[in-house]
Amino acid sequence: MKTLQLGHTGVQVSALCLGAMYFGTRNDQATSFRILDAYVDAGGTFIDTANIYAHWVNKSPSGESETLLGEWLRQRGNRDRIFMASKVGFGYPGVPVGLRASQIEEECNKSLQRMGIDSFDLYYAHVDDRKTPLEETLAAFDKLVKAGKVRFIGASNYRAWRLEEARWLSQVNGWAQFCCIQQHYTYLHLRPGTTVSPQEFANEDLHDYCASRGITLLAYSALQAGSYIRPDRPFRLEYGGTDNEKRLATLREVAGEIGATVNQVILAWMLNSKPPVLPLIAASDLDQLNENIAALDVKLTADQMDRLDKAGPH
Ligand SMILES: NC(=O)c1ccc[n+]([C@@H]2O[C@H](COP(=O)([O-])OP(=O)(O)OC[C@H]3O[C@@H](n4cnc5c(N)ncnc54)[C@H](OP(=O)(O)O)[C@@H]3O)[C@@H](O)[C@H]2O)c1
Repeated sequence: MKTLQLGHTGVQVSALCLGAMYFGTRNDQATSFRILDAYVDAGGTFIDTANIYAHWVNKSPSGESETLLGEWLRQRGNRDRIFMASKVGFGYPGVPVGLRASQIEEECNKSLQRMGIDSFDLYYAHVDDRKTPLEETLAAFDKLVKAGKVRFIGASNYRAWRLEEARWLSQVNGWAQFCCIQQHYTYLHLRPGTTVSPQEFANEDLHDYCASRGITLLAYSALQAGSYIRPDRPFRLEYGGTDNEKRLATLREVAGEIGATVNQVILAWMLNSKPPVLPLIAASDLDQLNENIAALDVKLTADQMDRLDKAGPH
């Protein structure tokens, strides 16, 4: 599978990261293993989970995704070939939202234990915590890196100015720096004045910041749970408006021109952006997975990229 460099780490990761959010809850073990195996067979190595996945499904206690991934790694004996990412920061039953030092250390240990592994390749601050001093959070992440429990650190759901504050603090203290930011991002524009709180949308400011600092931007909810093609999954209201109708029309037009699906054009558009945006893909069956992985073969001309970029400006 095509790879991209992850921030300044010097490490290449798969250009499509497999999201494991519903593995072990909505997706049973057999289905999840089939998807994981197919992703790896296609050359993929970059897998994303979090300590909170997925406690909101059937009031699960949480940790089902990490536990399932740990079992899969054990059965396949492939830990050394997978670039495994997890996260800490959002709350789940018994654990409040936050990034206090004690919480970061405890949750990392719990996640490693659930997975039965010694370290994560990437460990994210899942959501900004404005109540805890950033110094405390960053020092705790650095401690994990120095202890060998985490190779690289990333942020998720942070605004650009907070990332810059974090970068500066890490630099002056000689701590590990966030190499990437994982944000809510899709082809449609978020309507002005709306948010996806408590998530953060990848706005223009963030794109500009990441490009100038060499921080990799990863996109979650890229396909909006299938809303682009599934009438049973209407878009959230924040994606309404005539601008987005124009964007949808352009998306369908380009997809028709090249014989690709709308979902594939979205993923290809992200990958062809400058600098590229690395999408997370998720699937609950092999057809979805294969369709999404095939986006890597989709070629968009400069004219098509330009039309996609410029369609329906705010
Ligand atoms: N950092 C964060 O705050 C954050 C937040 C959310 C997610 N994430 C990460 O990002 C990953 C992906 O997030 P997401 O689930 O929001 O992504 P998404 O791309 O918006 O939705 C994925 C879902 O869309 C449907 N789908 C996928 N491919 C499809 C296709 N080709 N045709 C039709 N439907 C398709 C499937 O729904 P069905 O399963 O219902 O069929 C799939 O589960 C997660 O697994 C997680 O690792 C991170």
